[in-house]
Amino acid sequence: MSLKTRPLHPEFGVEILDCRIGPDLSDEEFLEVRSAWEKNSLVLVRNQDLSPADQEKFTLRFRELEYHVLKEHTFPEHPGVMILTNAVEGGKPMGAHKVGWHWHTDLTYFPKPCDMTMLLGVEIPPEGGDTFFCSLTAAYDALDARQKKRVDGLRAIHSYNYMRAIKYPDAAPLTEEQLDRVRDVEQPLVRLHPVTGRRALYVSEYIIKNFVGMDIPESQVFLAELVSHATEDRFVYRHRWQAGDLIFWDNRATMHKATPYDDVRYTRRMHRSMTAGDAPF
Ligand SMILES: [Fe+2]
Repeated sequence: MSLKTRPLHPEFGVEILDCRIGPDLSDEEFLEVRSAWEKNSLVLVRNQDLSPADQEKFTLRFRELEYHVLKEHTFPEHPGVMILTNAVEGGKPMGAHKVGWHWHTDLTYFPKPCDMTMLLGVEIPPEGGDTFFCSLTAAYDALDARQKKRVDGLRAIHSYNYMRAIKYPDAAPLTEEQLDRVRDVEQPLVRLHPVTGRRALYVSEYIIKNFVGMDIPESQVFLAELVSHATEDRFVYRHRWQAGDLIFWDNRATMHKATPYDDVRYTRRMHRSMTAGDAPF
């Protein structure tokens, strides 16, 4: 098979056309899909209807699964697939809601953040709820020599608790076990991609508390400059979801941001899975 593709953005992202994604892709087909993902940082395939079981199996072909610190919104039989939704049943939320509405890369507060995140659009509102993605490799490449010198070698403290205190001050406190999983970690500010050899400006809003050797206020000013650069229009792809859209992106090379929608009028439901990853270097 030779995949039919079209670019989504001049810097990154590709849509695979006329393809049915599932755990039963042949090895040859899967390697092509995997290579499209690694080369382009983000893959979109439309009109897919993966069950949670199939999504879990397909994600597993890339690598072993990663699990989010919050477990209550996963499928009991398929804990690798989490529900993101505003839907409520019997007064109980059926999934995580209002998460990721800031620029970030998934799970950077783990020593080994996840390589890949996969999202399946199951129920999509007619307006709102777009996801923005940006290329952190293109953003790094566009820095001038002086800026590269400043960021190369810097290290950042990524803190789930710092983000949670600012973004979700009313959220229920984490259990001791959850707290244990999300201790602050130090990550390089410039990350080398192990497959493509490209460097990425490895930033995230709110999650980075400070840079090593800099206090929090100074770090936040510098971080805001870096995020503002990385999220310039020339590095950003905006995805307007349709039901059946499957997107999987490379967290080693991109950031993303969810956006609000009218959650009183509309229901939105997405299924998310993630693979494990390695310590950034
Ligand atoms: Fe995310």
